[in-house]
Amino acid sequence: MVTVTPNASGFGAEITGLDIGAPLAADELAQVKAAWAAHGVVWFPDQPLDHDQLEAFTLQFGGFGLDPYVKPLADRPHILEVRREPDETNSVFGGAWHSDWSFQAAPPAGTILHSKVIPPVGGDTEFADGCRAYEALSPVMQGFLDGLQTIHSATRPYGTNGVYANEKPGRSMQIINCVEADSQQQHPLVRVHPVSGRKALFVNPIYTLGVAGMTEAESENLLSFLYRHMLQDQFVYRHKWRPDMLILWDNRCCLHNATGGYDGHRRVMHRTTVAGEKPIPVV
Ligand code: SIN
Repeated sequence: MVTVTPNASGFGAEITGLDIGAPLAADELAQVKAAWAAHGVVWFPDQPLDHDQLEAFTLQFGGFGLDPYVKPLADRPHILEVRREPDETNSVFGGAWHSDWSFQAAPPAGTILHSKVIPPVGGDTEFADGCRAYEALSPVMQGFLDGLQTIHSATRPYGTNGVYANEKPGRSMQIINCVEADSQQQHPLVRVHPVSGRKALFVNPIYTLGVAGMTEAESENLLSFLYRHMLQDQFVYRHKWRPDMLILWDNRCCLHNATGGYDGHRRVMHRTTVAGEKPIPVV
């Protein structure tokens, strides 16, 4: 029997009672999709999966997303290995708040992360709830934000002069810095979730360069207000991993952040993305 156990806040839920290494029955898949839409982040403990099983699980939620700037596993073009070795000193991959690939015209609906090697300390992943953060704003602020557009780009991490292009050697993961990453994409600041119909703040400090039509000072002040607001404890869930756990999160309404804190230890995760749609604006 499928059991969904949400966090007290309603953001994030554990799902048990399933073997996700096998294809889900139609009613099981429907329950998982409903829980995902309701809680934003869902996780499944004690699920050892090989590459075929991880890919098959992913494809039950949609096609694979396009993962442009990290070299995938040699024989698995849709699986990225998020790996950090004990002696690495470069920054933790994904170690700042973001929504995956929000610079794409149709960013991935979901990301799936499966834990292979978990360090004895640290390595948590944090998630922030863009729906509840939006809903907690005043109607006046909501109305103001509803009409705004923002500019997203991969330039800060993956551009020709991005952070990864300038780091010292020694990273296990192969990052691709290139000129395509400097391009820009416009998205609504508030997007409507295609399944739940809820509105979510859709900005993040890595890929959102600014608010369209505003001066730099206006844009910076508005975005920093929104990040302070969204990243308050009341909207954040901090996930503690165990080996063989799988998390499915919704990039349309959540930000995430890899927290690090495990220098001297290995951490290995396998990651896929689920293709998404062009963000739906508020009308
Ligand atoms: C990511 O941003 O995809 C990585 C998250 C993590 O490693 O916890």
